[in-house]
Amino acid sequence: MDINKGNVEAETQLFQAQAHVYKHVFNFLGSMSLKSALQLNIPDIIHSHGRPITLPKLLLALHIDPAKSSHLYRLMRLLVHSGFFSTVKVPKGDEEEVGYDLTPSSRLLLKDNVPSLFYLAQAMLHPAIVHSSEHLGDWFSSNEPTPFYTVYGMGCWDYVSQNKDFSGLFNEALISDSSMMNLVIKDCRSVFEGFNSLVDVGGGKGAASRVISESLPNLQCTVLDFPYVVENLQDSENLKFVGGDMFQSIPAGDAILLKLVLHGYGDEDCVKVLKKCKEAIASKGREGKVIIIDKVINEQKDERDVRDAKLFFDVMMMIMTNGREREEKEWEKLFLEAGFSHYKITSISGLRSLIEVYP
Ligand SMILES: C[S@@+](CC[C@H](N)C(=O)[O-])C[C@H]1O[C@@H](n2cnc3c(N)ncnc32)[C@H](O)[C@@H]1O
Repeated sequence: MDINKGNVEAETQLFQAQAHVYKHVFNFLGSMSLKSALQLNIPDIIHSHGRPITLPKLLLALHIDPAKSSHLYRLMRLLVHSGFFSTVKVPKGDEEEVGYDLTPSSRLLLKDNVPSLFYLAQAMLHPAIVHSSEHLGDWFSSNEPTPFYTVYGMGCWDYVSQNKDFSGLFNEALISDSSMMNLVIKDCRSVFEGFNSLVDVGGGKGAASRVISESLPNLQCTVLDFPYVVENLQDSENLKFVGGDMFQSIPAGDAILLKLVLHGYGDEDCVKVLKKCKEAIASKGREGKVIIIDKVINEQKDERDVRDAKLFFDVMMMIMTNGREREEKEWEKLFLEAGFSHYKITSISGLRSLIEVYP
């Protein structure tokens, strides 16, 4: 091999590696830039403007000192680069200037839109999570249950129950996330049909159950969650709320829904909950089922953004809880250990899969 060519290749590789390292070292600045855009309400400002907004108009709408114009330009340049805004040319007299427009990602971050991930992004970028994530490395050589525990001295559900600011954001996050359930129900209506009753275990404020109960008025839905989560929630004709602990008791029903619950728990706890679910659907015989909406990691099949997001979620579960995102074979192991006989996984849009588990 030509020695010079070998040197050039090695050098190219070295500088590619340098860029790769810098990019990942600074990944947190991508998150923080997004956080500042949400804090400044930029997506909603562009949305209410009704058309692409120029930098001077954005500056005016934000009531920012004009001396910060070039700083705002640089923030917007990064957010355009990461796909949160786009630039278009807008006429200015005989000339043109640049206007910032929304992209599908920033549309999903509008505060009052449905569906919206505005509160989800706020919750995931909350100091409680960001601060705990800084302790991941130390945690590996400690005996604490989670990095979150290392920092706050309690588990995340205890923290949620004691911290109104975080729990408010967290609940809003789940409500907005569940608004995307409408799309899932439309596609998978048959999964919820043919039952008289459904128990939504760890159902939060009942956002998913509300969508299901409205779509299937003959189905009696019960939401089980911690008493502090369901207190003061109004029952309706086919939707009721029960305060309790799923490890103690799960109300009987024909089908059980577990949406984004098992990923918050380790395998042993999941098997305990699944066994309780099996008892709860026992009266429906072999026709009863457990419906799980959660992530299934499939590194070979998932496209890049989906795969990245699932792997990040997995590390976040490690920081906050003793839970995890699971691959199919890991799910299967839980189902078999809990005494179920078979299951069917259907990929639904986005990061989630719908898993039907049968006794
Ligand atoms: C990530 S949230 C998902 C909420 C809801 N299923 C949704 O998707 O919008 C997990 C929920 O499980 C509830 N949860 C966790 N452990 C529980 C337990 N031991 N008993 C009852 N609910 C529990 C939490 O309070 C929280 O509302």
